[in-house]
Amino acid sequence: MSDVRPENMKRINTPELANAFIEEQLAEINRQVGPDGKVLLALSGGVDSSVCAALIAKAIGKRLTCVHVNHGLLRKGEPEQVCKVFGEQFDLNLIYVDAVDRFLDALAGVSDPETKRKIIGRIFIEVFGEEARKLKGIKFLGQGTIYPDILESKDGIKAHHNVGGLPEDMQSFELVEPVKLLYKDEVRVVGKALGLPDNMVYRQPFPGPGLGVRCVGAITRDRLEAVRESDAILREEFAKAGLEGKVWQYFTVVPDFKSTGIKNGKRTFDWPCIIRAINTTDVVEVTVEHLDPKLIDHLVQRITTEVPGINRVLFDYTPKPPATVEYE
Ligand code: XMP
Repeated sequence: MSDVRPENMKRINTPELANAFIEEQLAEINRQVGPDGKVLLALSGGVDSSVCAALIAKAIGKRLTCVHVNHGLLRKGEPEQVCKVFGEQFDLNLIYVDAVDRFLDALAGVSDPETKRKIIGRIFIEVFGEEARKLKGIKFLGQGTIYPDILESKDGIKAHHNVGGLPEDMQSFELVEPVKLLYKDEVRVVGKALGLPDNMVYRQPFPGPGLGVRCVGAITRDRLEAVRESDAILREEFAKAGLEGKVWQYFTVVPDFKSTGIKNGKRTFDWPCIIRAINTTDVVEVTVEHLDPKLIDHLVQRITTEVPGINRVLFDYTPKPPATVEYE
């Protein structure tokens, strides 16, 4: 398949167009992989890799093996959902790797944001490589590359994730990239037609280094849990308020400083939790979602009472520029 989207290609925005695309891709995957070919895929649980996995699984069933690496920086419930949807509903070969200690041990004491990102990327490749080497006879590597990835790598904006990131002995894989000519909204329509759950298909963007960039500074397990728990409460409350799918991105950040407070009549010395909710079309310029005061009060109340280590909630109302979306 060419890397250029044909000018006359219809925008996939209906279930009928999605089904037609799925049928075409099933044939294309089977043609590329052949009757016995096996495919390996790193499944993060994000929209692109999930839709890619579901498509390939539909085409070749158990000849697809997915590896889900839990690096400990995923949102609450995500590893469980990946195992449930892909291990049970799609019944594919799913290898779940619990690499939490390996990532968190390597990150201990590291506060520089770029070094944190590099460590996360390096260990991910190491873990995935180790799993891939244990499997024999796999020639193909599935990837959830989408069209903006191709356009951005052409323009030199970002490196296109591909086998280039893998160790040399693994670079002989042939890529299977069934959604590479699709835009994000089209990937979601195809995911829905494939039967993936809504909270997977309409998932907000989530950085590769995960909650690691929201646990500002050197990551500690207790502060990381405070990020994960407060994020879960925020998502739950946004869903209840009907904001899910309407606000582009919303998350919590727990910086590495403490302030005094009072809980049950006793002095506390705990972290603040920062809430950031933003809207954008291109992520270059970002505006802030102004929250309902009642929702603000409710979030403050829940987070300060339910999340260990948090005694204060702050709201970040800064657009981009001057601030970036993430803190690191
Ligand atoms: P910034 O912080 O640059 O974020 O304004 C813009 C968008 O990109 C996401 N982001 C990342 N996504 N790997 C990713 O896959 C990363 O390292 C990364 N850093 C930021 C961010 O969540 C926002 O949607």
